[in-house]
Amino acid sequence: MAKLRVGLIYGGRSGEHEVSILSANSVISAINRQKYEVVPIGITKEGKWLVGQSPAPLVESKELTVRLLGSDAGGEEISLMSKTKSGEILSGLRDKIDVIFPVMHGPFGEDGTIQGLLELAELPYVGGGVLASAVGMDKALMKAVFKQAGLPVGDYQVYLRKEWRDNPTLVLTEIERGLGYPCFIKPANLGSSVGISKAHDRMELKKALDLAALYDRKLVIEKLLTGREIECGVLGNDEPLASVPGEIIPCTEFYDYDAKYILNDSQLTIPAPLDAALAQKVQELALRSFKAVDCAGLARVDFFVDIDKNEIYVNEINTMPGFTKISMYPKMWEATGVSYSDLIDRLLQLALERFEDKKQNKIS
Ligand SMILES: Nc1ncnc2c1ncn2[C@@H]1O[C@H](COP(=O)(O)OP(=O)(O)O)[C@@H](O)[C@H]1O
Ligand SMILES: [Mg+2]
Repeated sequence: MAKLRVGLIYGGRSGEHEVSILSANSVISAINRQKYEVVPIGITKEGKWLVGQSPAPLVESKELTVRLLGSDAGGEEISLMSKTKSGEILSGLRDKIDVIFPVMHGPFGEDGTIQGLLELAELPYVGGGVLASAVGMDKALMKAVFKQAGLPVGDYQVYLRKEWRDNPTLVLTEIERGLGYPCFIKPANLGSSVGISKAHDRMELKKALDLAALYDRKLVIEKLLTGREIECGVLGNDEPLASVPGEIIPCTEFYDYDAKYILNDSQLTIPAPLDAALAQKVQELALRSFKAVDCAGLARVDFFVDIDKNEIYVNEINTMPGFTKISMYPKMWEATGVSYSDLIDRLLQLALERFEDKKQNKIS
């Protein structure tokens, strides 16, 4: 049987460019070579697409992979829109590839934009579609959808950057009255804790709102949630399954960018030490969150679990979670009985199943 050609799109125009390269490296080392042939497609930080000739240059060295993304990598450069004829977007890729794995995180990777492009190109791809990806990326929309689905979401407020700049006193007063201190301030659309602060007083709150306003026109302010940070993996399309939950113990005051990518000192415990009933509740809520945003393929749902207060809150859904072999999502599945290489296989099959399912839709 001919091998399926997997277009592995990685890199991209986001703060999580490097993490995505690491995830792509992991996938390349673990994918079942009997079944799949990998075509690496690197996107530079400037947004240039490079289609590599073979996965060979992508080895476990960050330096080398970054070079592959550079202009002298010898990869074939493709132009997405400008060179296409008769409106056939990505036609070049369609001849070379059977299924795409967009292993990219954050804006332009996990937010529906690349998913939209792949829909137009009629290419099957791993993970949630345009809607799930976009909703999962926007913390304000995500919370609204979760609330509507009856999921437990902490108190929050949303302001436009314009409202903050035009009427700071009103915004500060409303936040203090509604949420109090400490509170969390976040740009609505970003990941990796970029632009996120914890404010303990009015001075810090002002600074935090200014910072978040550098990254997005929409700002989300949340009440402090207490408890442990528990995460749960979801895998599947219309009948998804949940993994055993895992726990993160950040090495800093909260799980900020440094704790995630620089200090490397946060602790992951899988399975999370939770009693069986609580673990089951987390899994149930993870599946409901997945369905609430109409996700597909994979997602990691993150929670705050306060055992003393007997409270669980959904913090967020990540529709393309970190995917290195040692990332939380693959490790939670490994602990559930699905090896990393089987997980990749399952995700590619789910992408193809979803594509086939969609073909049943009558167009007119
Ligand atoms: N409301 C909150 N209460 C307590 N801690 C929070 C709250 N919101 C975020 N945090 C902390 O900040 C981290 C990053 O926030 P999160 O919303 O997960 O952003 P990102 O999408 O960048 O991962 C969380 O993992 C947690 O440690
Ligand atoms: Mg998070």
